[in-house]
Amino acid sequence: MHYFQYKNDQLYAEDVSVALLVQEYGTPLYIYSASTLTRHYHAFESAFSDIKHLICYSVKANSNLSVLKILGQEGSGADIVSGGELFRALRAGIPAKKIVYSGVGKEVSEIQEALLADILLFNVESIQELERINTIAQDMDKVARVSLRINPDVDPKTHPYISTGLKENKFGLSRPEALKAYKLAQTLTHVDPIGMDCHIGSQLTSLEPFMEALGRLKEFYTELQGLGIPIQYLDLGGGLGITYNEEEPPHPKELGEAIGTSLQDLDVTLILEPGRVIAGNTGILVTEVQYLKENGEKNFVIVDAAMNDLVRPSLYGSYHRIAPVCQKNREEVVVDVVGPICESSDFLAKDRSLPRVAQGDLLAIFSAGAYGFTMSSQYNSRPRAAEVIVQGAHHILARKREVYNDLTVLEESGLTLVTEMSKD
Ligand code: LLP
Repeated sequence: MHYFQYKNDQLYAEDVSVALLVQEYGTPLYIYSASTLTRHYHAFESAFSDIKHLICYSVKANSNLSVLKILGQEGSGADIVSGGELFRALRAGIPAKKIVYSGVGKEVSEIQEALLADILLFNVESIQELERINTIAQDMDKVARVSLRINPDVDPKTHPYISTGLKENKFGLSRPEALKAYKLAQTLTHVDPIGMDCHIGSQLTSLEPFMEALGRLKEFYTELQGLGIPIQYLDLGGGLGITYNEEEPPHPKELGEAIGTSLQDLDVTLILEPGRVIAGNTGILVTEVQYLKENGEKNFVIVDAAMNDLVRPSLYGSYHRIAPVCQKNREEVVVDVVGPICESSDFLAKDRSLPRVAQGDLLAIFSAGAYGFTMSSQYNSRPRAAEVIVQGAHHILARKREVYNDLTVLEESGLTLVTEMSKD
């Protein structure tokens, strides 16, 4: 459920007309609905109310400061994967005690920063990382709380690029390696192994893979108990899918009930790291039609948003619903919606049946709130889009549209240096 609806054939973000927002902020434009965001957060959070739990929103899905601030105010923690995400989460006011840090390649400075902030847990992905964290914590006279990320070898049945819990993936530790790591952690003085973690993939549309992974974690939990390693936190990661097209993912409630039943006999705090299910349908990307072109074979609708703004269709062949901002009764035509970037992979939709559009029309690309702006780039020297948040009849600019100067500002010093270099 989201708050992007048509009223008198005009698309609205909550109580604000999308066309009006475009007049004020231009295109391409990311628009997020704050009420949808908080609604999704609470739908997810309340699904786990029967068990001790902490929701750590996965910052990578949408890391806009205002989005993080809204979620933080609602009580969310954060799942981070870099020093940059730690910086953002803290800047947005998310308490360090609700932050967990995942990722296979944590650098020394990033570990130091997280220890300094005193985050809740590091989700450790290798034995070398465990050793590194221990050494750094020792140097800083701290004890790092850690979970070990288990790779349960479960098929999440999603796109291979976003599957993370299979043996062939780089993530986590196999059970035998994890056992070694827990035993090692017991002997290390500056890490405290109090958690177990896994994240098997993203855009999961059935419960089975979650439950299979949880089953494997529970077996391992029992084994660790026998070894005198008491696990207090069990982190099942994120991954619950959303409806882009015709997918019918389980409702968070169903996931909550299934996990709740399975965890009844365990005295642990459940951690979840949802990203897409919170932010995905919270946002749309609005773009303006620039040109129409036919070549006998194909009809192209050339718009001013491109793969640098929303890379998911190009990268994963993902489907995003597209619809005109102003609905007029027009015949349907099969088109490719493409951007101005010089690559054939620069498309937002292929062979899509859309009402016939004209130059200057606005199109809304739905379900763009997660992994939309965060994966955007300046490829082809295109300044990044603006981000706006709407709540009821109010709207705020949550990120300014980049300008040409933003493309070159970090390179200016090179101009002088090149001149000097060529003098030598
Ligand atoms: N926790 C960890 C450790 C993760 O790696 C991820 C996502 C999440 C949580 C959140 O997963 P979610 O609930 O959003 O599925 N760019 C891709 C998705 C990559 C997901 C990476 N990890 C896309 O656009 O589909």
